[in-house]
Amino acid sequence: MPIWRALPPLLDRDLLRLFESAALAGPVVRLDVAGYRLIQVSDPALMREVLLDKAKAYRKGRLMRRLGAVTGEGLLINDGEVWKRHRRLTNPALAAGALPRYVPAMRQAVADTIARWRRRDPAQPLDLLGELSASTLACLLDSIFGIRADARFARVSEVIHSLLDELVRRGSALVAPPLAWPTPANWVFRRRIAEANAILDDIIATRSQTLADHEEPADLLGQWLVQRRRDGEHFSDGEMRDELMTMLIAGHQSLAIALAWALYHVAQDPALQTQLQQESDGAELPSEIDEIDKLPLARGAFLEALRLYPQPPILLREAMAPHRLGGYRIRRGDQLLLCLPALHRGAEYWSDPERFDASRYTGFNVNAMMQGGHLGFGGGSRSCIGRRFALLEGVLLIAAIARAFTLRLAAPDADPVPPRFAGMLVPARPLRVLATAR
Ligand code: HEM
Repeated sequence: MPIWRALPPLLDRDLLRLFESAALAGPVVRLDVAGYRLIQVSDPALMREVLLDKAKAYRKGRLMRRLGAVTGEGLLINDGEVWKRHRRLTNPALAAGALPRYVPAMRQAVADTIARWRRRDPAQPLDLLGELSASTLACLLDSIFGIRADARFARVSEVIHSLLDELVRRGSALVAPPLAWPTPANWVFRRRIAEANAILDDIIATRSQTLADHEEPADLLGQWLVQRRRDGEHFSDGEMRDELMTMLIAGHQSLAIALAWALYHVAQDPALQTQLQQESDGAELPSEIDEIDKLPLARGAFLEALRLYPQPPILLREAMAPHRLGGYRIRRGDQLLLCLPALHRGAEYWSDPERFDASRYTGFNVNAMMQGGHLGFGGGSRSCIGRRFALLEGVLLIAAIARAFTLRLAAPDADPVPPRFAGMLVPARPLRVLATAR
């Protein structure tokens, strides 16, 4: 792709437009910018090749490593033997069998959200993203640290929110100035990171001192600390901090944005909403991952939001050695961008792909999503470690909200809200709804 064609969206910071026009230009499109050879892959078979068959030829790479300023050497960006060890140590606390421990935190966060909405004047619109962001962060802080609404909670959520806002702001640029440059924005960002790290260090130290030997903790940090007492090779304090920060960064906003899109579509489709309410009125809320299948429409609405608005929409990989990909020559150091909207909105796997259709997931296997043409949680060995957690919390929240409220768009005649690329696919305007208690 010649740079002059890429320049307008790059200058407008409208990267979604750039990805879309590159996908239309061909299955593999190269753009050379700021010293990078960026290669966008929009062909489903080639994406599969990168994530599965040739996975060993790739690592997360330089573009992804920019996150390292916040997440340190956490799972999202590390590679090789370090990644293997961290993934092995993290897996047990997020495996299917461990999830029921977090269900009380999930239920509490949803109950608090419902109570908050009930206290409001129903004529006042709710901002879905702000509301769900508060809900998913509360759930995550409770699940991973065992922290509920207290002074520490307010402090942690304020710092994490401001850090994420800054990451979203920086995420709208493909290639950003390095954090080491002495700009005022970099200085503020570095100070926020230092503050967040200090808070996490403090939480780890306090939890470690108060943890009783016989305790069987529900929170993820407590479980890691117990394991470390048994196995000296477990995460050090510094590694734990990096992984906890990674969980907060990877697991909070992605879920909140996806749920906001899901409820936005539910609010504009009365027939879907009625069916969803009938489904959730008659069902138990799930407390294990297998139970989400009993709420097929709530599950479908969540998966459909992740199909139309994948979080993140682009998976990044760096080639570690020269090789061929579908007849194209890839060089060492090439930065691959796997374009999920091209797969998720393509006719190969999806009929009427632009339509939000929560009922299309009958028989869909959430443990083999890549085979079904859905990379909402990535694919291959680097797929999302928190996907079961996210699915359980997401389905539980959609079903509980459907039971408690009827949602309507606050401005039904306004144009649909489009997505905007900011690392994630955020709404370009606030998603406002009116919630009437049932
Ligand atoms: C709707 C919610 C979520 C979505 C859409 C999502 C999506 C993804 C995707 C697409 C990847 C793969 C990235 C890549 O291949 O480059 C990923 C990785 C990851 N996710 Fe999630 N995620 C969600 C929730 C969570 C939660 C709740 C957690 C933790 C509690 C989490 C932790 C992680 C971690 C640690 C990785 C890196 C795994 C590795 O490389 O081994 N995610 N996520």
